[in-house]
Amino acid sequence: MINIALPKGRLGEKVYEKLAKAGYGYVDDAVDSRKLIFQSADGSVSYFWVKPSDVAIYVEKGAADIGVVGKDILLEYSPDVYEIMDLNIGKCKMAVAAKNGYKDDSLVTLKVATKFPNIAKEYYEKQNRDIELIKLNGSIELAPILKMSDVIVDIVETGTTLKENDLSVIADVCPISTRLIANKASYKFKKEEIDTVKEKLK
Ligand code: PRP
Repeated sequence: MINIALPKGRLGEKVYEKLAKAGYGYVDDAVDSRKLIFQSADGSVSYFWVKPSDVAIYVEKGAADIGVVGKDILLEYSPDVYEIMDLNIGKCKMAVAAKNGYKDDSLVTLKVATKFPNIAKEYYEKQNRDIELIKLNGSIELAPILKMSDVIVDIVETGTTLKENDLSVIADVCPISTRLIANKASYKFKKEEIDTVKEKLK
């Protein structure tokens, strides 16, 4: 039996569909229920649907053997897990954005709003730039509009959110995509089962 933590939402569903096609689908009557744990018809796989930002915690603690998570979460929280495959989906980037026409003054402390304080801190440390971090949990784009921050460090996928709020990217931080991660002990003791799932996802 192998336990898989999937992120609730489009990406998790995409990965689940691949696994279902590979024969790991769960029994039909489970689909519309409110259960949180689902087993594949052959009993070889258990799925947990969790909040995307919690996937790495389930895997690190060993409650799940493997999980599906964005590189952004791995960079921000540095969980003690193995990153075993780039699933090449959920591609986007971490970027710095500001109001159109924003002019930076490198002599003043930069106010940075973000959901990813560790990523932002590391990025600006490398640039030797003093910043004041404003940690938000969503709708980050509002911060520069309301003059609460100078810039934001956030995920940009299509660029629509920035465009519709009169903001634009001023620097790229790093590319992001969805990764398959494994618990360290599980990867030792269930390597064969994990590698089989990995192969099916290729
Ligand atoms: C993310 C991100 C941006 C948006 C980027 O937010 O924080 O706001 O998606 O996507 P785009 O470039 O395709 O417009 P999310 O949808 O996770 O919501 P949030 O604001 O609540 O974090």
